[in-house]
Amino acid sequence: MLPTGISRRIILLAVLALAFVSVLYLGASREPLDATHPGPLEPKRQESADSNAVLLTGHAIAPKLGNATAKAELGRAAWKVLHTTFARFPKKPTDDEKEALRSFVHLFQRLYPCGECAEHFGKVLAKYPPQVSSRSAAAGWGCFVHNVVNKRLGKPEFNCEDIGDAYDCGCGDEEPKTKG
Ligand SMILES: Cc1cc2nc3c(=O)[nH]c(=O)nc-3n(C[C@H](O)[C@H](O)[C@H](O)COP(=O)(O)OP(=O)(O)OC[C@H]3O[C@@H](n4cnc5c(N)ncnc54)[C@H](O)[C@@H]3O)c2cc1C
Ligand SMILES: *[C@@H]1O[C@H](CO)[C@@H](O)[C@H](O)[C@H]1NC(C)=O
Repeated sequence: MLPTGISRRIILLAVLALAFVSVLYLGASREPLDATHPGPLEPKRQESADSNAVLLTGHAIAPKLGNATAKAELGRAAWKVLHTTFARFPKKPTDDEKEALRSFVHLFQRLYPCGECAEHFGKVLAKYPPQVSSRSAAAGWGCFVHNVVNKRLGKPEFNCEDIGDAYDCGCGDEEPKTKG
């Protein structure tokens, strides 16, 4: 039986309603399905900032490192990587480069293979957050926190004015100090 005028209008309305709902659904599904946050932009940024903070400052991951010889060898190698990283960080870093260094330092701490060292160093980072605004800020901060660890372990304090010379690694810089 052919649709009457009224039922034709009902079918047309139903099709339009379905199309409308589909558009709404497709639009919504581009945002993460999270009913707890009403506005799409600000809460989303907040959410990723929160999960980022948890990622960077969560619990120390490695188990205890019982072997004192291995612990000291690891420490010397790790400090070398850290200080050399700071010494080669840009003098004028971009925001992206600053965030990269900040994340690196925090994840280096979380994943440091000596669990009890990582746990202690986490407290050092909470008190003295990484300085990432420039090479000299990063290098000075690195020297300072190494001294915090030195002091705790009963080691002599390092003179941080010497930090520039100590980690001039002769890596073949793109910024030569002398011409020719
Ligand atoms: C993040 C971290 C946490 C640690 N936590 C612990 C811990 O809880 N317990 C533990 O037993 N060990 C810990 N260690 C290891 C410890 O710091 C030493 O690396 C290890 O005891 C060997 O000491 P070292 O005397 O050979 O010299 P290191 O402290 O390893 O230093 C290596 C060299 O770096 C230079 N140096 C010294 N101080 C500074 C400074 N302030 N700035 C720049 N350069 C410097 C000196 O030339 C020194 O010889 C940790 C290491 C790291 C990287
Ligand atoms: C402790 O670590 C050192 C250095 O890695 C290693 O030579 C030594 O065999 C280790 N000792 C034990 C008991 O595993």
